Amino acid sequence: MQAFVGITIGNSQARAAIYEDGEVKLVPLEEGETSMPSAVLLHRLREVGKYAYLYSGTDPNLLVMNINRLLGRKYSEIQTELPNIAFKVENHNNRIRISDWLGMTYSPIEIYAMILRKLHQATERYLKRPVTNAVIAVQGSFDDFQRRSIRKAAESVFNQVKLINEPTAALLAMGNTHQIHRDQQVMTIDLGAGKCEIAIVSNLNNKLRIKAITGDTHLGSNDINYLILNYLARGFETQYQQSLTSDSAMARHEVLMAIEQAKKELEYSDNAEINVPFVNFDRFGNPLHLQATITRQLVKELSTSLLTRIKNLINSCLLEANRPYLNQVFLLGGGTKLPLIVELVGNTLKQHPVRAKNRDELAVIGAALYGAHIFRLAQIIDIEDVTVHSLGITTYTGTMGFVLKRQAIIPALNTKRFLTVQNNQSAVHIEVREGEEREASSNKLIGQFDLPLTANLPRNSPIDVTIGKDDDGIILVRAQDCVSGRAREITINYDL
Ligand SMILES: Nc1ncnc2c1ncn2[C@@H]1O[C@H](COP(=O)(O)OP(=O)(O)OP(=O)(O)O)[C@@H](O)[C@H]1O
Ligand SMILES: [Mg+2]
Repeated sequence: MQAFVGITIGNSQARAAIYEDGEVKLVPLEEGETSMPSAVLLHRLREVGKYAYLYSGTDPNLLVMNINRLLGRKYSEIQTELPNIAFKVENHNNRIRISDWLGMTYSPIEIYAMILRKLHQATERYLKRPVTNAVIAVQGSFDDFQRRSIRKAAESVFNQVKLINEPTAALLAMGNTHQIHRDQQVMTIDLGAGKCEIAIVSNLNNKLRIKAITGDTHLGSNDINYLILNYLARGFETQYQQSLTSDSAMARHEVLMAIEQAKKELEYSDNAEINVPFVNFDRFGNPLHLQATITRQLVKELSTSLLTRIKNLINSCLLEANRPYLNQVFLLGGGTKLPLIVELVGNTLKQHPVRAKNRDELAVIGAALYGAHIFRLAQIIDIEDVTVHSLGITTYTGTMGFVLKRQAIIPALNTKRFLTVQNNQSAVHIEVREGEEREASSNKLIGQFDLPLTANLPRNSPIDVTIGKDDDGIILVRAQDCVSGRAREITINYDL
């Protein structure tokens, strides 16, 4: 039997789990800890994980974090991201490259692979045998391009790679630990460091069926840290006529660490102190210290628009699942430890949410369980997953011709009929797009091809377009000239 490992690489924490002797075990990564920062320090001695974070003090601009936000993106797509990135990101023909201490550059895929390699090594050390396969839980809201990037990184480390949506993995873990009772419908809300994902699932006769998944890859509890940072910077500038951090990446890093610590204290206390001595100097060279208090109320006020976005995500998930009765609402992810999030969820749903058991580890436990299922090591509660984005083609008028709508049960396949627009048209150009917008060009172009047509076809001749998505997330597109029966088929592939 080839050994496998279940993996999650979150925006802040990475974990690995194996299935052995009939149970899931978390892999000890560093000094026995079962999670490590999803961080890489591109220093002379390259560090991944805890020590990347700890040793980054003097070189915060070599510390790569939040790699999920750069994967599968073009440089032009990350402009809003750049102000919050301390490490060095370069634009190479619109490809993202991250540079190390010597100026050598790496793609986000290579950085992701470095984190995977560390998790892989730790697992082999723990299991004392080779580990060749992996099940990776990825953000449910990731698009096809992002999934392929993860697959490519993983295939540089493992022989066989399976992906599973994170919310699906978490639900699988909850179902198998009896947190979702028979004939109940529940909602899970996962607010991580960088993303928020909501899912609704029903348990019908011990078969889990996902009703809807909604998510935002740019809505996380670290965003609250940046809001606090901006607030403190404004106060500091007013007080000292001197900027808090802008001229020093190190100072910014230290202040962010202090904010993170203080934010966590708000889980149990109404207020928390932030003290960063020697954060800057005045124009006479005298040291300036940051001393501030943050309160729950202040953080709530600063987070107003972020809270509205979470509320909207909850409501759209409810809507997409046809407003089901919810027996239970579960909170997952570190961000839901903030009391203001618990309060927001309670007010929005008029229902008190509960903490899921093992809420930080559910996704990795689910990934390991899914692996056990795939490799036939265990019988688990089965789960039906759904697509998170719609797929379709650009029509003649520029609108999106949806073929496979989001929230379709996977494996999913659907056919839609389109018509030719001119007499004697020699071919149709099929542009495959992913997204929800009516205007096709606002959705992501993920592939294109031409289908040659029979000679002398009159206009309004039927062309059938079929789009399918399999368990591995692989998208297949087929276009058929219904008159001649001639068809062309592609699987979506990118030059990554
Ligand atoms: N006690 C706490 N109180 C408030 N926030 C907390 C607490 N503990 C952790 N957090 C926040 O939770 C976030 C990390 O959560 P988690 O480990 O679920 O993220 P992740 O899974 O790595 O990220 P993502 O799900 O976005 O990929 C951080 O923003 C951290 O500040
Ligand atoms: Mg997470």
